[in-house]
Amino acid sequence: MGYFRDTIEKMDGYTPGFQPKNPDAVKLNTNENPYPPSPKVLETVSKISDFQLRRYPDPMGGAFRQAASEVFGLPEDHIICVNGGDELLNYAFRAFCDANRPTAWAEPTYSLYPVLAKLQECPAIMIDRQGDWLEELARINAAMTIVCNPNAPTGEFTEVDKIAALAKRLSGVLLVDEAYVDFSEDNCLRLVKQCPNVLVLRSMSKGYSLAGLRAGLGFAQPKLIEGLVKVKDSYNIDAVAIQVAAAAVRDQSYHKQCVQKVKAERRRVIDRLRQLNFIVPDSAANFVLAQCVKTRADVLFEKLAAQDIYVRYFRLPGLEDKLRITVGTPEQNDKLLAAIQDIIKHGEVT
Ligand SMILES: Cc1ncc(COP(=O)(O)O)c(C=O)c1O
Repeated sequence: MGYFRDTIEKMDGYTPGFQPKNPDAVKLNTNENPYPPSPKVLETVSKISDFQLRRYPDPMGGAFRQAASEVFGLPEDHIICVNGGDELLNYAFRAFCDANRPTAWAEPTYSLYPVLAKLQECPAIMIDRQGDWLEELARINAAMTIVCNPNAPTGEFTEVDKIAALAKRLSGVLLVDEAYVDFSEDNCLRLVKQCPNVLVLRSMSKGYSLAGLRAGLGFAQPKLIEGLVKVKDSYNIDAVAIQVAAAAVRDQSYHKQCVQKVKAERRRVIDRLRQLNFIVPDSAANFVLAQCVKTRADVLFEKLAAQDIYVRYFRLPGLEDKLRITVGTPEQNDKLLAAIQDIIKHGEVT
């Protein structure tokens, strides 16, 4: 017998996006924010005291929880602080799913979900994100249904009313993964008060430029939060992350400025890619999904990487002809668009 559980032995782990060593690379492959975090963030880091590092942190993320409560308008007992949104996904699988409690979602979506389902050894019902997939999810009525909104990697936004209607028809939990919602026009936070089965995930990695820090939030009614707290690590969010994430979330004016800049560039990148004959749906996130019509996506991906321009290519059903491109600064986007135009002009990708 090997060292590992059968499931672990047989499964593939999650493949994170490539992290190039060159700091000047045009890195548009993991949906980070191209702008630095709020100036309040480094100011807060510089004020971290020795006792904050020597002692264990507040198990519930004290200052961050309080700041999130004030900014998002929900009481603290409706909030769980996490070490990145991925950690909340882990806790949700652990808390709500097992061999007899399946999960369901519509594909394509975040490729971490199937990995977590395998780890938890729970059945995963994956339907196609075509036609009336919300109706189908309601009919399946899994122990945990996941809707990623806006969806990764498509960038599409599903109206909140439709998600509310789904929540009301489900007897299990509805996890709404809002990792990218800072770049959207609406969000599902108001459903938390209305629906006892809704859990909303938020990330500090995208809209607040803190992917390296690892901080995120879960919002739900106290009963769900209390259950999630049972499965969480005792000190899941560290002392520095608590203070820094609190400072970032409180600086809403800086946050909104960055989001506006990304949205303006998103419009420009989509328009230009369409002119270059890509099929690009509108996006409510900080990335776009470009379908290559006259080019091969995998070849274009390689040619761009050879120029130190990194986008994301998923060798997955339905995504083989598409590239997911994070919206960067105007300079980064210019480099990307010029490189794509050049590669196409030289006919190097057919
Ligand atoms: C759809 C989705 N959900 C959740 C996350 C988790 O983000 P983080 O753990 O950085 O907060 C990501 C990260 O890429 C994501 O793409």
